[in-house]
Amino acid sequence: MKHETIEKNAGLMAMLIIIVISAGGLAEIVPLFFKDSTTQPIQDMRTYTAAELEGRDIYIREGCHVCHTQMIRPFRAETERYGHFSTANEHVWEHPFLWGSKRTGPDLARVGERYSDDWQRAHLYNPRDVVPTSKMPSYPWLFERQVSGDNTASKMEVLRTLGVPFTDEQIANAKTDVEGILEIDALVAYLQALGKTHSNYDVR
Ligand code: HEC
Repeated sequence: MKHETIEKNAGLMAMLIIIVISAGGLAEIVPLFFKDSTTQPIQDMRTYTAAELEGRDIYIREGCHVCHTQMIRPFRAETERYGHFSTANEHVWEHPFLWGSKRTGPDLARVGERYSDDWQRAHLYNPRDVVPTSKMPSYPWLFERQVSGDNTASKMEVLRTLGVPFTDEQIANAKTDVEGILEIDALVAYLQALGKTHSNYDVR
């Protein structure tokens, strides 16, 4: 009879559904905040350099993450192609994380050092010069625009408040480290660092 009362009262039913689903969600989510494997960086992990950090912002500005994921799932088809599957502790310093969910192009989580700098530059200038059937857009303006570096230090300071251990020295040198470099240099530096900021996996 009690069940009938619930079934006949949509408001009550909705409340109870919310409570049950929340309990299930909390049981799955809350422990993740307390596990070292999800809150502590993987051993040996280094922070991005000033150029890599600026490159990352260009990657976000240009919407690369809309076509490329940075999360290798633990399936054979993926690990054979991309390398070791992604783990949470590789991403604890990523703000915002760029896992993505749509792959128009390949996953890039471990693309660092897979191609030469020259290949990356040629590919970004016009993908069809190196991959004739590519439908990735061209980014010729990256070869003309300079990174200003005016905000690099403050970006590092903000990230430090979120737990990314940039040193005082890195912050003090940030502007001079990127001054005068082109956006393409910063973006390629970032791509070459993907999957290479720690040495724990044998990554192809
Ligand atoms: C419209 C979707 C789209 C966007 C946006 C896009 N890409 Fe791509 N990307 C692709 C496709 C499709 C391929 C596979 C063909 C090729 O290699 O060009 C690719 C390939 C790549 C590769 C080679 C990966 C590999 O393992 O072979 C890299 C590196 C790359 N893209 C970087 C970028 C960067 C950096 C940006 C942003 C500046 C970007 N892409 C934006 C679709 C996209």
